[in-house]
Amino acid sequence: MVPELASRDHVRAISDVVTRALAEAGVEARELDGIALTAGPGLIGSLLVGLSFGKALAYRLGIPHVGVHHLAGHLASAQLGDAVLEAPFVGLVVSGGHTALYRIEADGAPRLLGYTRDDAVGEAFDKVAKLLGLAYPGGPAIAAAAEAGDEAAVELPRPMLDRPGLEFSYSGLKTAVALEAERRTPLSGPARADLAASFQAAATDVLVSKARRALRAERLARLAVVGGVAANRRLRDRMGKAADSDGFEVVFPPLALCTDNAAMIAAAGTRELARGARDGLGLAAFSRVALGAAPWADGRRR
Ligand code: KG4
Ligand code: ZN
Repeated sequence: MVPELASRDHVRAISDVVTRALAEAGVEARELDGIALTAGPGLIGSLLVGLSFGKALAYRLGIPHVGVHHLAGHLASAQLGDAVLEAPFVGLVVSGGHTALYRIEADGAPRLLGYTRDDAVGEAFDKVAKLLGLAYPGGPAIAAAAEAGDEAAVELPRPMLDRPGLEFSYSGLKTAVALEAERRTPLSGPARADLAASFQAAATDVLVSKARRALRAERLARLAVVGGVAANRRLRDRMGKAADSDGFEVVFPPLALCTDNAAMIAAAGTRELARGARDGLGLAAFSRVALGAAPWADGRRR
């Protein structure tokens, strides 16, 4: 992705996208009660386009606006289906940019329990797909290829399971797949399927084990799994089995709301606005995830 080109595309598209979203929802702009804006983390240029447009619209309509942390949006997506997840709960965020475990309190405040030391799990799916010659985004491509494969065919590491704690690491697993792929070059169809299945199994097994560990450590029995990788069928299946055997409740967002979407930002923003949170016109974008205790509650005027 070229950040500058992405920003320019945002400038070109944003007005039409907002107009179309309102038309499809059958809502007039003047009926809006507030506007939720993604403040970060992400590509700064694209964030600025959305923030500027949203602030201007809120100003013109005379309604409040509030900045939303991208990961708070993902976590809110778990509540957009039929399931109701009562806080406190453990939130596992598995996306292209992040792999993180949080403890979410009843007031929505997050506490970071563990993060990835290197690649995010979705990033690993994308990189492994590329080296296996599969399409982008890699997650769905690997999942499709894995269907014809044997997940026990290639022995791969389950990184970070041999040591205590709730951190993740995915770059070693990606390197292990690269070495196995090289050994099998030229890759036949069945060999590619076996590698895809074995990688998917290793990547998702780690998520299940760490989520179980976090629930035990926090003495909680409720889990939300969100982000693009939460669409993965093997992860949903294995996490569901773990929930049955350990006796915890697990909630996934509806499939269509796992990958990035605006509904999840609206859901998180609605909650914030209802709580009285307001941001000013000075609301700034931020590019990096803050690893502190409550990264998206910082600096908010209430
Ligand atoms: O949450 P998301 O849309 O964007 C970020 O915030 O990063 O996540 C995108 C990621 C991509 O890496 C994509 O490969 C992965 O989610 N993904 C999947 C599946 N669908 C999307 N990974 C595994 N299995 C899937 N079915
Ligand atoms: Zn995302």
